[in-house]
Amino acid sequence: MSFVTAHDIFHAYGHRPILERVNLSVAEGEFISIVGASGCGKSTFLRLLLAEERPDRGVISIDGAPPAREPDRARGVVFQRYSVFPHLTLEGNLVAAEGLGTRWGRLHGAARRAARERARATLERIGLAHAAAAYPSTLSGGMQQRLAIAQALTARPRILLLDEPFGALDPGTRVAMHDFLQEMRAETGMTVFMVTHDIQEGFKLGDRVVVFDKPRWDPQFPDAYGATITYDFDARHGGIPFQTLKEDTRVLQSA
Ligand SMILES: Nc1ncnc2c1ncn2[C@@H]1O[C@H](COP(=O)(O)OP(=O)(O)OP(=O)(O)O)[C@@H](O)[C@H]1O
Ligand SMILES: [Mg+2]
Repeated sequence: MSFVTAHDIFHAYGHRPILERVNLSVAEGEFISIVGASGCGKSTFLRLLLAEERPDRGVISIDGAPPAREPDRARGVVFQRYSVFPHLTLEGNLVAAEGLGTRWGRLHGAARRAARERARATLERIGLAHAAAAYPSTLSGGMQQRLAIAQALTARPRILLLDEPFGALDPGTRVAMHDFLQEMRAETGMTVFMVTHDIQEGFKLGDRVVVFDKPRWDPQFPDAYGATITYDFDARHGGIPFQTLKEDTRVLQSA
């Protein structure tokens, strides 16, 4: 059963097509790694899933309905830039993330104390326990990114969108955050879309690795065509492609 579906998506900025004929069907709980050249539209695709933008043509559906525009607990996000609350301490950031799922956006009393304890445990797990009372601006870029990832995971979203989440991290921290993400995923069964420039990371974490690329290319007009999904690899079974976009299927699709 498809949980997230992109059907025949076309999206342009002005006269520049960015994405064309993007089709993807994702089951609940799957981990999709997205790779592709810089500027080919990977972040744009995540923004469409988030409903920050609507596709010019085609349909995106999540659990059978168009993605909701309002931020909700269903979708957690870690973007290329850090997305933590600057006016809250590290602990406050994690407690606030739990509050996102409540009616008033805040927790009180025993629930708040329990959230605080979980926040401390999470900070311990990501190596930031010593900085629980510090503000994000006092942290290094890599530490802020770790906090942002922990924050998104704390809200236990049904869908997690990660845009190059580990780019700023040193190799040791990166592996620790991989473990953390995998543990959280095993606990929650969430569906994950992760854009990465590290193809090894894509295959290590993903169930599938999808490649965005431009199948059509005019050297005179490099912006004339958009990118689509050219490969969809099964990362769990030796990287065998599920589907490779062939010339004849392209003709059929555009016919
Ligand atoms: N709001 C916008 N208005 C106009 N053009 C945009 C807008 N957002 C993105 N673009 C352009 O669309 C193209 C795709 O951008 P996008 O950020 O999706 O690429 P990307 O694959 O995420 O690249 P990177 O790997 O460098 O992050 C780029 O050429 C970018 O300049
Ligand atoms: Mg991007």
